[in-house]
Amino acid sequence: MIDARQARAKAHNEASWMSGERKMSGERKSGVLITGGGSGIGLAMAAEFLKRGYDVAICGRDPERLAAAKGKHPGLRTMEADVARSEDHARLASWLAAELPHLSVLVNNAGIMHASDFRGSVGLGEIRSELDTNLLAPVALTAALLPMLVRNEKPTVVNVTSGLAFCPSAEFPVYCATKAALHSFTLSLRHQLTGRVRVVEIAPPIVATGLDKRSQARRPAEGSGPPVLSAETFASEAVQRFEQGEAEIVIGVANGLRQRGEALFADMNP
Ligand SMILES: NC(=O)c1ccc[n+]([C@@H]2O[C@H](COP(=O)([O-])OP(=O)(O)OC[C@H]3O[C@@H](n4cnc5c(N)ncnc54)[C@H](OP(=O)(O)O)[C@@H]3O)[C@@H](O)[C@H]2O)c1
Repeated sequence: MIDARQARAKAHNEASWMSGERKMSGERKSGVLITGGGSGIGLAMAAEFLKRGYDVAICGRDPERLAAAKGKHPGLRTMEADVARSEDHARLASWLAAELPHLSVLVNNAGIMHASDFRGSVGLGEIRSELDTNLLAPVALTAALLPMLVRNEKPTVVNVTSGLAFCPSAEFPVYCATKAALHSFTLSLRHQLTGRVRVVEIAPPIVATGLDKRSQARRPAEGSGPPVLSAETFASEAVQRFEQGEAEIVIGVANGLRQRGEALFADMNP
């Protein structure tokens, strides 16, 4: 079920994306780059895109993680890169120009999450790494790769936010602020690039990944509390809805957060 706001965003985005059809040539599927594609949601989406015939590249910091992903999915192209470092954006852009010149979909997925308690001491390094990875990186990487995206058919930027973009969990104050900011950036980017580039937001619910093992371990037993999706179930729905042309792909319990926003704050933060 989509409400009027989502329907407007969908129509708006479809109109933008269709204009990319003018560049259609042949049957070649789009090239996709997924940041942080070596594990979790990124890897599951990479596998789903591969299954659907896309050419997929992933990047991440840990070479062993990338090698394991490639071992499991030999069709993947992999590159070691830290999206929080601007020099790696330039390296990524040159690598993509050689390796995946038909890149048309950038998926800004890499993210980290810290529990930060401002009643105690919170280090600047910890704050900065979250801001740099979750906010600066998708914004700067979008700017760096847009010139390449728009040379290809159906240029698309996908930002992975979170249900927590709409109502924070106070245990993760910086993380939630970065996701709220990325949601805001996505709205403005979509508006600016209307008719030229499709801009998509994917807001996941709780997905079983390595993002925050500590809080996952504390979660109530299966059957109670909010449902936790497997990365594969999540990715299958997300990529299917991506292909259907949706602009704002809000999945599972993230829908309640999208609709009710801060009205849920007290419930979420007893
Ligand atoms: N899991 C959830 O419940 C959930 C809910 C809402 C939103 N999300 C969002 O979904 C996205 C993916 O998270 P996940 O749950 O799949 O977590 P994950 O399993 O920890 O995956 C995050 C990936 O990002 C990579 N990464 C982190 N920092 C990076 C950097 N500076 N440069 C390049 N790659 C980097 C990591 O690889 P390396 O360590 O090798 O770099 C890892 O492969 C994140 O944006 C997260 O906020 C997740």
